Amino acid sequence: MKKLKFTNGDQMDAIGLGTWKSEKGAVTKAVKIALENGYRHIDCASTYGNEAEVGEAFKEVFEGNTVKRDDVWVTSKLWNNAHKKEDVIPALKNTLNDLNLEYLDLYLMHWPVAIKPEVGFPEKAEDFLSLDEVPLIETWNEMVKAKEQGLVKHIGVSNFSIPKLKGLMEETDHTPEMNQVELHPYLQQNELLEFCSRNQINVTAYSPLGSGDRPDRMKAADEPSLLENPVIQRIAKKHGANEGQILIKWSEQRGTGVIPKSTNKERIIGNLASAGFQLDEDDLKEIAELDEHFRYVTGKFFEMEGNSYENIYDD
Ligand code: A2P
Repeated sequence: MKKLKFTNGDQMDAIGLGTWKSEKGAVTKAVKIALENGYRHIDCASTYGNEAEVGEAFKEVFEGNTVKRDDVWVTSKLWNNAHKKEDVIPALKNTLNDLNLEYLDLYLMHWPVAIKPEVGFPEKAEDFLSLDEVPLIETWNEMVKAKEQGLVKHIGVSNFSIPKLKGLMEETDHTPEMNQVELHPYLQQNELLEFCSRNQINVTAYSPLGSGDRPDRMKAADEPSLLENPVIQRIAKKHGANEGQILIKWSEQRGTGVIPKSTNKERIIGNLASAGFQLDEDDLKEIAELDEHFRYVTGKFFEMEGNSYENIYDD
C-alpha cells in the first residue's frame, strides 16, 4: 500500500474507509470490519451525522487493543456552520467527543463556504454568511491554533480550487497539508494535482466510485456511471478484479489518498485489496482518455441567487 508523506515525516495510508452516506445503523460495524481487516485510515466529517457511531467502533477496537489508536489515521472535517473564530475549536471538540478520540490526525475545512451557526444544511440565501463576514483566513487561523494545541496533528482543506488555495496561502505561513477533492477518471484534476504537488499539498480523492448512493436530490438524471464504464469494465476483467478495485487502484497509483465508502463486508475488504495489483501503461492510457471534467458533487447546493457564492470550484 502506498503512503502519503507529510513534511514532519508522518505518513497516511493511501486507501482509507469513507463514511459519507454510511447509515448510523451500519457504520459502527463497517469501521470495525475495516480496522480488523487492515484499514489504518478512516475518513469522517461532522456533517455526515454519524460520528458518534464511528466513535463507538473506535472505542471498542482501541479499548480491546486489537489495533492501537496511534496506528490509525483519522480525518474529520469542520462543517460550514462553525467557520467563525469562536466556533472552530468547540466544533472540533464536539467531533473529538463523538469519535471518542483525544486527537485527530487530520482536520479539514470542509468547504470554502460559511453558513450561519444555527443552520445545518443551507436551503436559502439567508442561511449563508459571506466570506467578507467570515474570511477563510479567520477560520484557518483557528485551525492552526488547534494544531498548536495538539488537538489535531495536521490541518488542511477540502473542495478548494487553485485560486482558493492561492488566496489562503498568500495570507498564512501554514500551507494546507491536504486538499480533499472529488477525483476519479471523469474528473482527473491534473492541473490541481500538479499545483498541489508543487506546493507540498497532499491530495485525497473523494467519490472515487461515483457515489451512486447519494440522495436523489443531489443527482442529475443522466449522470454517467463510473462502475459501468466499458473501459473500466474491460480493465477489471483483465485483472480479475471488480470495477471498484480498478478505480481505487487508479487513484492510489497516481499518488493520492482515496476513500471509498462501503458498509458491505466483502466490498470493504475487497476495496483494500486493490493495493495488491498494478495497472499497466495501457490501462493508464485508456483511463486518461476518460476525463470529461464531470462532477458528481456539483456544489450547486451552495450557489443561490442572493448569496455571495458563485462558481465555488472556480471552473
Ligand atoms: P456499499 O456501501 O453497499 O458497498 P463512493 O465511495 O464513490 O461514495 O461510492 C460509494 C458507493 O459505492 C456505495 O453505494 C457503495 O455501496 C458502493 N461500493 C463500494 N465499494 C464498491 C465496489 N468495490 N464495487 C461496487 N460498488 C461499491
